[in-house]
Amino acid sequence: MEIKITKTTSPSTMPAEDKLGFGKVFTDHMFIMDYEEGKGWYDARIVPFARISLHPASTVLHYGAEIFEGLKAYRRADGGVQLFRPMENIKRMNNSAERMSLPLLNEEDALEILTTFVKLEERFVPKSFGTSLYLRPFMFGNDEALGVHAVKNATFMLIASPSGSYYKEGINPVKIMIENEDVRTVRGGTGYAKCGGNYAASTRAGERAAKKGYSQVLWLDGVERKYIEEVGAMNVMFKIDGEIVTPMLTGSILPGITRKSCIEVLKKLGYAVSERLLSVDELVNAMKTGKLEEAWGCGTAAVVSPIGALAYGDEEYQINDGKIGEVTQKLYDILTGIQWGKLPDEFNWVYKI
Ligand code: PLP
Ligand code: COI
Repeated sequence: MEIKITKTTSPSTMPAEDKLGFGKVFTDHMFIMDYEEGKGWYDARIVPFARISLHPASTVLHYGAEIFEGLKAYRRADGGVQLFRPMENIKRMNNSAERMSLPLLNEEDALEILTTFVKLEERFVPKSFGTSLYLRPFMFGNDEALGVHAVKNATFMLIASPSGSYYKEGINPVKIMIENEDVRTVRGGTGYAKCGGNYAASTRAGERAAKKGYSQVLWLDGVERKYIEEVGAMNVMFKIDGEIVTPMLTGSILPGITRKSCIEVLKKLGYAVSERLLSVDELVNAMKTGKLEEAWGCGTAAVVSPIGALAYGDEEYQINDGKIGEVTQKLYDILTGIQWGKLPDEFNWVYKI
């Protein structure tokens, strides 16, 4: 595909690596292309990072037609730059697009957009272990009219942010609260899609948890409020009596690429991994009887995030004495080792730029 590049005339300085938060500063450029029904995607361009202008009736502002992805460009130990399973993000973006009646991307074009952009912004890929250039592709419906229907016009963009760790705790265990009131999504809804509305609807519970001193909530299913689904904006895994358990993908859970990678690593290490329904009663019982050995969240932003305590109602249960567990640590070491190019890519997951 042809991508027209207009470079900035006022390059910014890369922020200090030890001060990077998550998603707060952006690189000098952004990618944009437009879509019109019948015409397809057109006018692919990289331009200086700037505010964009939207028609006040634009679909995204009224009906939430928006999807996004999140992946990282990692600085390898040898100085090169690589992505981690980028085709998985591209395929998931198309699944999200299909769910939200937004146009699909050509997969090869999408990969070319990512690589062209990362090459241009290479100096913004930080060098310290654990830091990365977080890539945020997103798409929104952009009809300039108020009728409710599948859009005829859309915009796809890519922005990037040099980032440090997602949680201020880093790899230290976080405290999580089981959420009994709000639900994130429901089966038949949009849970498996990465659409903006899922996140807007989940922040209220996250804020309530924060007020009580918890980092995030553990979501229960939206039909019976009985089965464990995800933790905050991450997938969740448990080690219960020797078995690794992660909620099965029922349609309301986002099929995480880190989740999938954790399962593959664990199976290779010889662990029994079950993707199944896990009820909150089973989990609480495992906590009461000391059978819950480890719990962790997994996602691109935080990679693996140990859960040191879980609250349910008025009770708070410590997990592994509030310390990171053995399996959690192993997963963190292996995944980050592959992502930052310190370990051999034995699963063929990295895509060098
Ligand atoms: N669950 C939700 C709701 C998410 O937003 C994410 C992040 O993308 C994940 C899980 C983890 O997915 P991945 O590992 O692909 O980043
Ligand atoms: C993740 O990468 O795990 C996320 O959930 C990203 C978040 C900022 C939406």
